[in-house]
Amino acid sequence: MNIVLHADRLTKTFQVGGEAFHAVKGVDLQIGQGEFVAIMGPSGSGKSTLLHMLSGLEKATNGRVTICGLNLMKCNDNELTRLRSEKIGFVFQFFSLIPVLTAYENVTLPMLMAGRKDSAVRNRATLLLTQMGLGEHMHKRPKELSGGQQQRVAIARALLPNPPILMADEPTGNLDTKTGMDVLQLLRNTCKEPQRHSLVLVTHDPWVAAFANRVLFVRDGEIVGEVASSDLGQDHERPLAFAAAIQKKWEMLMS
Ligand SMILES: Nc1ncnc2c1ncn2[C@@H]1O[C@H](COP(=O)(O)OP(=O)(O)OP(=O)(O)O)[C@@H](O)[C@H]1O
Ligand SMILES: [Mg+2]
Repeated sequence: MNIVLHADRLTKTFQVGGEAFHAVKGVDLQIGQGEFVAIMGPSGSGKSTLLHMLSGLEKATNGRVTICGLNLMKCNDNELTRLRSEKIGFVFQFFSLIPVLTAYENVTLPMLMAGRKDSAVRNRATLLLTQMGLGEHMHKRPKELSGGQQQRVAIARALLPNPPILMADEPTGNLDTKTGMDVLQLLRNTCKEPQRHSLVLVTHDPWVAAFANRVLFVRDGEIVGEVASSDLGQDHERPLAFAAAIQKKWEMLMS
């Protein structure tokens, strides 16, 4: 498998009231092209800190991250900004759309700001919004859209530069169950041919994690276990058995 993201002995230490607090402790992981990996752990276990280091949003105290062959620790601020805009798409729990802009404008804005005003960008924005089921809603503002529609706008925005890696932090945390499942299905589809994006998703919910190919369990800043849908000997189009396996492993690891 073609590895697009590689982390070695990744560590984050915060100074809190004069004392060192180790939020992430020596994490190793690899993400393959087209792979959907969920990082699952309780609140405060270090998931978001880990994701921020993987994407270069936050500097690691120690260790190394390599994305598409580029060592993040050796990048200056400009190089990091470019890497984040070209190689990584972000989807967050709060959709972080700009309220005065339409769905279409929200999707194209980051690329316009990067100086891309060509018809390829406009066509791709229209295509992605249509694929996200928003063909009819492109010219609405966020407040005229439902939560699930807003999150799909955010996904279209993340996908516009065609980044090899998508990172999502609790992307369904603000959605009802059914809408959340639809959004997860859309995210999962982007990992398939022909796009084959890689997806790293943070969650504390086994039902969400069950959409992934592989689940890494985090506790107190460390990866303490892993379960893959392929371990079950059935394909991950059937998330029910995988969710049960995740739940079982989670209870074992967290007890
Ligand atoms: N800037 C900071 N300074 C000090 N401590 C921090 C900082 N950011 C995070 N922490 C601590 O690091 C630990 C991990 O935080 P993190 O946000 O990564 O957890 P999380 O697993 O994403 O939790 P949640 O599920 O609640 O989002 C927590 O104990 C948190 O208080
Ligand atoms: Mg978090």
